[in-house]
Amino acid sequence: MPPCDFVPEKYESYPYERMQKIREQNIASSLRTYYKKPLLLHQGHMQWLFDHEGRRYLDLFAGIVTVSVGHCHPKVTMATQKQLARLWHTTNIYMYPAIHEYAEKLTSLFPDPLKVVYLTNSGSEANDLAMFMARVHTRNFDIICLRGGYHGGSPYTLGLTSLTPYKHGVANGFGCTTTMLPDVFRGPWGGSHCRDSPVQTVRKCNCTEGACHAKDQYIEQFKDTLNTSVPKTVAGFIAEPIQGVNGAVQYPRNFLKEAYQLIRERGGLCISDEVQTGFGRTGSHFWGFQTHGVVPDIVTLAKGIGNGFPMAAVVTTKEIASSLAQNLHFNTFGGNPLACVVGAAVLDAIEEDGLQKNSEDVGTYLLLELAKLRDKFEIVGDVRGKGLMIGVEMVTDKDSRHPLPAEEINQIWEDCKDMGVLIGRGGLYSQTFRIKPPMCITKRDVDFAVEVFHTALQRHVERAAAK
Ligand SMILES: Cc1ncc(COP(=O)(O)O)c(C=O)c1O
Repeated sequence: MPPCDFVPEKYESYPYERMQKIREQNIASSLRTYYKKPLLLHQGHMQWLFDHEGRRYLDLFAGIVTVSVGHCHPKVTMATQKQLARLWHTTNIYMYPAIHEYAEKLTSLFPDPLKVVYLTNSGSEANDLAMFMARVHTRNFDIICLRGGYHGGSPYTLGLTSLTPYKHGVANGFGCTTTMLPDVFRGPWGGSHCRDSPVQTVRKCNCTEGACHAKDQYIEQFKDTLNTSVPKTVAGFIAEPIQGVNGAVQYPRNFLKEAYQLIRERGGLCISDEVQTGFGRTGSHFWGFQTHGVVPDIVTLAKGIGNGFPMAAVVTTKEIASSLAQNLHFNTFGGNPLACVVGAAVLDAIEEDGLQKNSEDVGTYLLLELAKLRDKFEIVGDVRGKGLMIGVEMVTDKDSRHPLPAEEINQIWEDCKDMGVLIGRGGLYSQTFRIKPPMCITKRDVDFAVEVFHTALQRHVERAAAK
């Protein structure tokens, strides 16, 4: 494990068993924990987490893609402490410096005409508002979304979330229509240079550079949805630039560009959910939509925006925002002074620590190292992503692309944890490892993580051979 000179405090809270009991008795059971023996995490420092026994872990999942600049980043912590002593809350019926300074700083990172921000408290709330805005502004109702997307768990956004484990069998999703996910690895079409990633799928195609058969086929499906399932005019379309919860699924190049055009022809607005892909994580660009060469009408932000502080945002145009100004729209905590100071400090840290460039350099290095493992191990079906937004999809074999059975994936994942590396899970069958660490991770950390993953895969091979 790479050295780390940070020394965690001594753990002084309840014993592990008592925490487990409280979890069983007093915390809603719909909140699931990772791992057979859940971790009791006690402290964090940049890319490292420490458990109650002082054991150190390399955090490759960042609190579900949320710790963007590093756990307890000193600059963010210091700025927050200063503001804590100054002013916590007044609500936005008054002016206070933090919201103005932050609104200017955040919107300066967007292209015209995306210059107006609403601050909210969570990604679900941001997407709720984005849907609402699209409906109010267009006076249309229908919203299209991609299957496999996760856009929130609120009753409104649940209609956009298209993953069965999150569906509870209660009425939701009026006016939300899903369409085929253009997944070039698992979907019916895909080839050897569809996606914007240093690593392509193992599928072959005869497409010439710049022409993509898979993209054309998926656009035909998109048109089919527009022609059969919604009225002639729609309120909008929402998509993540790279699907997060579904396991870093990337679409073929130019798919979003053409889909945006089709939506706009029908009077709809295009919403980019940047909850996971924003803030430089994809490396080449600050926002995921820029990697697709599009400018959305509405952008939603959360998670990495606050490095773990509960805050989120909706960025849009002055014209769209003014549609909501016909009536009142209010939010008590959105954009409170504390959140705005945290948000501004996160933006400073990304810039001062060069984290977008680090995401590109370290992310590309990691992707290429993982691709070597894909070539070596039959069960590593796909390695994909951009920057530090990475998915590794596990299969029984590369030909069938059937998901590797859960118990086999679980063992590899547990082994990685036992060797000190925390990895996320995603995909319909939880078959994809999600690697989305704090953006301060180093190449040395990558070498360690890849070695650990390699050992876990090797052990899997040995277990299979012994059966
Ligand atoms: C892409 C995306 N959008 C929206 C959300 C919802 O954010 P929150 O959990 O803050 O409500 C999530 C959460 O995982 C997400 O991954």
